[in-house]
Amino acid sequence: MINSQKVQERMSFLETLGLNNGFEGQLVSIDDLVEWTRLTGLASTYLAGVAVLSPVFEVKNGVALALFEVVDAYVAMVNRLQELHTKVPPRPAQDPVAVPNARWLTPKEIVEQLLEPVLAGINNVLANTNRIAEWPTVRVLERVCKPSLTAAIGIIDRIYKQKLNANVLARMGERDDRYTTFNHTRDYEDDTIEPKVESNAIRNALIAQLRTQRDELDAVETFARLLAAESEIRPAMLLELARVVSDEARHSLIGEIGLEKLGFNPFNVPIGTIGAELRSSLQPWEGLAQICLVGEAGNLQKIDQGSIDARDLNEKVIAESLRMIYFDERYHIEFGTRLLLERNPEKTPKGFQNEALSLTNKFLQNRGLPVVNMANVGRILGE
Ligand SMILES: [Fe+2]
Ligand SMILES: [Fe+2]
Repeated sequence: MINSQKVQERMSFLETLGLNNGFEGQLVSIDDLVEWTRLTGLASTYLAGVAVLSPVFEVKNGVALALFEVVDAYVAMVNRLQELHTKVPPRPAQDPVAVPNARWLTPKEIVEQLLEPVLAGINNVLANTNRIAEWPTVRVLERVCKPSLTAAIGIIDRIYKQKLNANVLARMGERDDRYTTFNHTRDYEDDTIEPKVESNAIRNALIAQLRTQRDELDAVETFARLLAAESEIRPAMLLELARVVSDEARHSLIGEIGLEKLGFNPFNVPIGTIGAELRSSLQPWEGLAQICLVGEAGNLQKIDQGSIDARDLNEKVIAESLRMIYFDERYHIEFGTRLLLERNPEKTPKGFQNEALSLTNKFLQNRGLPVVNMANVGRILGE
C-alpha cells in the first residue's frame, strides 16, 4: 500500500531538514552569492582594521569576536563558490599600521554598508529557494552565514548601545584614556610597575599572568593586522587566523575579569604596550613569527603554572580559564608555525624563531632596554 503514496508523503522525514517544500522555489543566484562573498570579505578586512586601530578595550575585543563570525560566513561562501566552479572575488587587503585611518570604515559603517545588506539578501533568498536542489548552499547560508552575521551585527549594535566610542580609530598600541600605560617592559613584577608587588609570591605570579592575558590586546592587534594586511591567505587558514584573533580577545577579557575577581579595579592596573609597539615596528608576517615563536612560546609554561597557582589560591574559575588559555596558546603556536611554513616552506621553525628573536632584541636595544633570550622572554614579553 505504501507504493501508492506520493513521493513527498513517503519522504516526510525531509521535513526535519526543511526540505519538504522540495520542488518549490528557485535556485540561489550565483551573482548574489558572489556579491555577498565580496561584501563579507571586505567586512572581514575592515573589522580586522578596527580590531587593530580602536583604542577602546571593549570595542577592540568585541570587534575581534565579531570578526571571527564574519570570516566564518565569508569562508563558507568562498568554499561553496569554489564547489560551484565560480571565480571568487579577491578580498582587498590593507595594513592598518601603514594605511591612514581615513581609509577604514567604522563598525557602524561596516554593519550598515556591508553586513546588513548581505543578511537581508540571505533572508530574502532563503524564503524562496528550491531547498532540495540547493541544499548545500541553503545549509551554508542558513546554518553558518545567517547566525554568524546576526551575531556579529548584534555585538556591534550592543557596543553602540553602551555608548562606547566605537567610531574613533587611533593606532596599534594606543589604549583608551580610562587606562594608563607603560612601555619599558612587560615584567609585571618589576618594581617600577603599579600596583606594587604583594608579599604573597604565588598571588604575585598569578596577578602577573592575568595582566599578561589582559594586555593581549596587543595579540588581538598582531593577528588582526595580518588578516587585514594579507589577501593571499587561503580560506581554511584565514578561518583559523580569525579564530586566533577571537581567542586573544577572550584571553584579554579573562585577564580583565580575573583581575577584578582578585579585587583590583582593572582601570587602576596599567596596561603594558611594549608588545604592540614592538610588532607595529615590524612587517605583519614578522609580527606573526614574533608573537607565536617568541611571545607565546616563551609564556606557555607560565600559563600552565598560573592555572596551578590559581587553584592553590582557591580561584577555581580563574584556574580553569587559564587551563583553557594554555590549550589555545599551544594551538596558536602550532597554527602560526604552519602558516609561516606554508608561505615560506624552505625555512624551519627554529629559523623563524631565531629571526624573530633577533628582531625583538634589535627593537629592545634601540629603546635602550636589556636584550632577551628564549629562557627569559616569557617574563619580559610573554603572550
Ligand atoms: Fe593569548
Ligand atoms: Fe595566542
